[in-house]
Amino acid sequence: MSLADSTSPNAAFAAVLIEKKRDYWRVRINNPERRNALSQAVVEGLIQAADAVSAEPAVRAVILCAEGDKAFCAGADLKERQGMSDDEVAAFIERLHEMMRRIETSPKVWIAEIKGACMGGGLELALCADLRVAHAGAKFALPEARLGIIPGAGGTQRLPRLIGVAGAKALILTGRRIDAATALRMGLVQESAADAEAAAERWAAEVGWCAPISLTQAKRAIDGGLDLSLEAALAHERECYAVTIPTEDRLEGLRAFAEKRAPVFQGK
Ligand code: COA
Repeated sequence: MSLADSTSPNAAFAAVLIEKKRDYWRVRINNPERRNALSQAVVEGLIQAADAVSAEPAVRAVILCAEGDKAFCAGADLKERQGMSDDEVAAFIERLHEMMRRIETSPKVWIAEIKGACMGGGLELALCADLRVAHAGAKFALPEARLGIIPGAGGTQRLPRLIGVAGAKALILTGRRIDAATALRMGLVQESAADAEAAAERWAAEVGWCAPISLTQAKRAIDGGLDLSLEAALAHERECYAVTIPTEDRLEGLRAFAEKRAPVFQGK
């Protein structure tokens, strides 16, 4: 079983659990015996969870977290990999990329809540989130070059886009482990906290103050503009902005400002 609501009787057996709050969902990787490694069931569960949350108009933020405090995710499930044929590995890598792309292009704001080890494909997964919040004891690495391979789930492309070429090379060309304080300094995470859960929920609450259509269009404007010329990127921004102009939420934002009250956004 790939995906279950955390209140479902089958929850213990599901590879990914979802917990629904009013403004945000928690999506939890549930493979703690293997340090929450990306098994086929975890990947399928994350695809299903991304699709399910994307279809929920009221949800603004998703906290992507993992069971236990030993690891956010230790990368590919190397034990499962041992029993797989070359064709099965190739098919799995396709699904892995698909899963990461679905999270990255989701209309929701994804917040990775990172406790323990965040290694290899686990770090590549965290790079697909919009924000990263780490427990102060978290550890990060892309150790692939030490294993005779290179990061192959987007790490060589997303990491330099996120923290710059120099920082990405420092991590990828050494395979070194860094702590949460270093990750914060490098811009890899946005916060290092003693209580990562509470910190992630604070971020989700702040995201929840924003209008849903604004969040989706701002994310689209930022991500879609990254690889364009400045001129093309500014045109792309105008196109994303234009989506917000005819919305009821934009008028509600203006009314709330005039009436000195908090806006109540409907996502319309
Ligand atoms: N795939 C499958 N199982 C994994 C795994 C992975 N990626 N990472 C850890 N596990 C399993 C271990 O084999 C072990 O199983 P066992 O109890 O049956 O022996 C269990 O999880 C606990 O691992 P352990 O190493 O004892 O835990 P730890 O808390 O001391 O260390 C890590 C956690 C993540 C730092 C360490 O397990 C590790 O370095 N894993 C490999 C990470 C990696 O290189 N990923 C990139 C692959 S490209």
